[in-house]
Amino acid sequence: MELMRLENFKISSTSSTIVEIDNMKVTRGKILGIVGRSGSGKTMTFKGATGLILERGLDISGNIYWQGKKKKVSHMRKLLGKNISYVMQNPMTSFNQVHTIGYHCYETLRYNLNLDKKESRELICKWFSRFALLDQDRILTSYPYQLSGGMLQRVMLSIAMALGSDMIIADEPTTALDNVSQKEIVESFIEANRSYGVTIVFISHDFPLISQIAHEIGVIIDGQLVEIGKSKDILTRPENIKTIKMLKGLIDNDKHF
Ligand SMILES: Nc1ncnc2c1ncn2[C@@H]1O[C@H](COP(=O)(O)OP(=O)(O)OP(=O)(O)O)[C@@H](O)[C@H]1O
Ligand SMILES: [Mg+2]
Repeated sequence: MELMRLENFKISSTSSTIVEIDNMKVTRGKILGIVGRSGSGKTMTFKGATGLILERGLDISGNIYWQGKKKKVSHMRKLLGKNISYVMQNPMTSFNQVHTIGYHCYETLRYNLNLDKKESRELICKWFSRFALLDQDRILTSYPYQLSGGMLQRVMLSIAMALGSDMIIADEPTTALDNVSQKEIVESFIEANRSYGVTIVFISHDFPLISQIAHEIGVIIDGQLVEIGKSKDILTRPENIKTIKMLKGLIDNDKHF
């Protein structure tokens, strides 16, 4: 079933077209992997669709459907933080350094779910333990800079799950992390999807990783979605010549794009 869909979706500046997506469906309850070279428009597509670049003076046109209903970008923006969570590449920038992790968690849950501090604490600790954040007192009283990038990502994932998000957009969540932390955060995202059914858009350069975790894969090249479908179909019989070249390049060079 379709959770979000972009149709004739276009983002342009005064001088050029940045993104032009004819039709892209995000299936409910699945992990959609989005791959493409740096600068191809992966981030712009999802920030654009969720209203995160409304202030930049770019022109955003086309149709956005959320749960089958057509929505304005400004409406999508309102869903952010509750129904949709956007997990950024650098988790440090998502937290205010002057507040503790506990403050961030309690404030977010109070604002969105109207919970008091005790209720918020119980709820967030439940999710912390599911994502292997075990030293909960220390985490809650820590400032963001006192935790590792991997831990902050899992705190963000815990907040998203506590809020009951329908969709989590994870934009290169592993790029800034070491190998062990990468593995842990990927496992946490898989767990969130598999056990709790949350829909995940996983944006990454790391094609081997995407091919392991995604149910569906979308390939973005030069601002266009050139291919989207079930992972095994994209991997075994890509239709677009650019995808084939990209896959071949990857396999030949054994490196990410
Ligand atoms: N405000 C803006 N005005 C015009 N062009 C922009 C603006 N912001 C970004 N771009 C352009 O949009 C294009 C897509 O950028 P985007 O950040 O979406 O790429 P990406 O695929 O996420 O890359 P990466 O993998 O490095 O994160 C880039 O060519 C960038 O120069
Ligand atoms: Mg990006």
